[in-house]
Amino acid sequence: MSSLAIVGSQWGDEGKGRIVDLLSSQVDMVVRFQGGNNAGHTVVKGKDVFKLHLIPSGVLYPEVTCVIGDGVVLNPAVLIEELDNLNMKNINIENLKISCKAHMVMPYHIVLDKAREHHLGKSKIGTTHKGIGPVYADKASRSGIRTQDLLDHKIFKVKLEEELSLKNAIIEKVYGMEPLDPVEIYEDYMLYAERIGKYIIDTAFMINKFLDQNKSVLFEGAQGTMLDIDQGTYPYVTSSSTTSGGACIGAGVGPGRLDEVLGIAKAYTTRVGSGPFPTEIEGDIGVLLREKGNEYGTTTGRSRRCGWLDAVVLRYSAMLNYLDSIAITKLDILSGLEKIKICTAYKYKKEVYKDLPCHQTILHKCTPVYEEFEGWSEDITGIKNYEDLPATARKYIESIEEIIKVPVSMISVGPERSQIIIRDDNLKKRLFDSNNRSTLII
Ligand code: GDP
Ligand code: IMO
Ligand code: MG
Repeated sequence: MSSLAIVGSQWGDEGKGRIVDLLSSQVDMVVRFQGGNNAGHTVVKGKDVFKLHLIPSGVLYPEVTCVIGDGVVLNPAVLIEELDNLNMKNINIENLKISCKAHMVMPYHIVLDKAREHHLGKSKIGTTHKGIGPVYADKASRSGIRTQDLLDHKIFKVKLEEELSLKNAIIEKVYGMEPLDPVEIYEDYMLYAERIGKYIIDTAFMINKFLDQNKSVLFEGAQGTMLDIDQGTYPYVTSSSTTSGGACIGAGVGPGRLDEVLGIAKAYTTRVGSGPFPTEIEGDIGVLLREKGNEYGTTTGRSRRCGWLDAVVLRYSAMLNYLDSIAITKLDILSGLEKIKICTAYKYKKEVYKDLPCHQTILHKCTPVYEEFEGWSEDITGIKNYEDLPATARKYIESIEEIIKVPVSMISVGPERSQIIIRDDNLKKRLFDSNNRSTLII
């Protein structure tokens, strides 16, 4: 394997960080290609829990080069805090590279994100309040400030003053809030420059060089397909391209560079924030999934809405990302349920929709068509071989494959690195045996 893109197949928090960490033992480079610190990727190694927001989830392997790519929006203060936390745990971060083209989240983006959400009231998107929408809006309107501007104090100052005068007018005159102080922001960002300036390079050249040299590169997606700015449940989405295509744009590699695309899906579905969610469970089982699955946002701590697995969404995701295979995470959380459901279609006004309906009103109002499966009661958290799973759990996995027409290559049965079932022997060979580096310990 030379390159692999890992993307979320639902509405985020599928366990991408957990799988990226696992596979990072086998690659030379991990590249985050979009999103910002709205992401929260959890990696559990033994007793240590790492919550990563900007730094790629390959960071626990000192040999791996970790890249924050062109398509990421970077809040330098958050990055520095993350670097400090990792330092305290003796994690080496000298292999970090930051794209000189990545846009920076500025304090006014955060103020404007919060102010707009407040203004929207009941219609709010439920953003993470990290300034993500406003920073991507500035990027598109060509008024953003990029990491490379940190390297030239004069240019940074000019850009900041120009932009802040406009943003302060909005902050004061539209939202009636206190303006921000340009001097304070300038001074803060110059301190950030001292800390992170040495990591800033043109990462696209480096990534392509790695690929030219046949080194293996893993592209780590943030958020999920249904939060994609173009393909997701707009406007209840994030502001970047979360699909495999986004990996090319946000890392600066051509589409032919992606050898394999792995989708990550939870064994059920969760979503944080507003927007349609046909399989959401309002009652006891929803609460049970939330509590047992600890479904609280890694970034904001908000409770995640929980529901049954939505195969209409997964089929859509398989198509958009052109998934080679899928990893199912958190299967252990379903243990103990008498019955488990998979949504195979939506029904609205006597029409049955097997594919995601074109008009979002239908997604808001439809009722899911479910197929029901027998549950299992065994503790599966220590299982390593697929054959050792209870027959009903295997039936569940094989039914997912049949319904979405994508093979399930991995099954995660716990948050810890070793709690994984690698199902596909070929994948095992490609990912772990033909390996150029360390051996995967599972
Ligand atoms: P990401 O944003 O896609 O990386 O996912 P998050 O880290 O936000 O959320 C996934 C949560 O589930 C984290 O707390 C993980 O530690 C946890 N997790 C991942 N895989 C499993 C699993 O198979 N079983 C259990 N019980 N927890 C898991
Ligand atoms: P990871 O990478 C889950 C959601 C927010 C909100 C919408 C827009 O950990 O899977 P934004 O702050 O991006 O403008 O918010 O997107 N959202 C996520 N939900 N996981 C994430 O990241 C998310 N990043 C953003 O809750 O509904
Ligand atoms: Mg997350």
